[in-house]
Amino acid sequence: MYTVGIITSSDKGYAGEREDKSGAVIKEIIEQKGFKVEKYVILPDDQNMLSEEMVHMCDELKVNLILTTGGTGFSMRDVTPEATKAILDREALGICEAIRYYSLQITKRAMLSRAVSGIRKQTLIVNLPGSPKACQEALDFVLDEIIHGIQILLGEAKECARK
Ligand code: MTE
Repeated sequence: MYTVGIITSSDKGYAGEREDKSGAVIKEIIEQKGFKVEKYVILPDDQNMLSEEMVHMCDELKVNLILTTGGTGFSMRDVTPEATKAILDREALGICEAIRYYSLQITKRAMLSRAVSGIRKQTLIVNLPGSPKACQEALDFVLDEIIHGIQILLGEAKECARK
């Protein structure tokens, strides 16, 4: 069973002023796929706090996957991509490119997400946009390939054979 850490980046969610629907949607989808949610936190849109939590989840909890939601847009408080890039060993931008490609067919606003994805040690990290609908749409499209990526990262799948 693969493990996942979920990080919601939201000033309002952290302050208890808004219910974190996106984190709940991610949790439901990911558990249905057989992942174990190792940790789920709501943090403010603070670059250092977000980076520190990602490092903790990668280096100490050693989760297989981190999914973040929120903070990928253009507001001056949106810093999730910067927090992620700062702690990555290797970029794996194909995943967020695929999410944007798919999402653009649903809403042109998808071009406003600055989300990134990549690898730190044995953990894959993927930024998702902030809305519950966006999280659902993105995961529907990329989750099976994410699982294959984790298998390759862990050496469980030797070849990246195309289906
Ligand atoms: N992607 C999908 N699939 N569906 C959506 O509704 N919303 C977009 C975009 N990506 C959206 C989406 C919008 S309106 C914005 S502003 C950006 O994600 C960034 O959102 P964030 O700042 O909440 O991360």
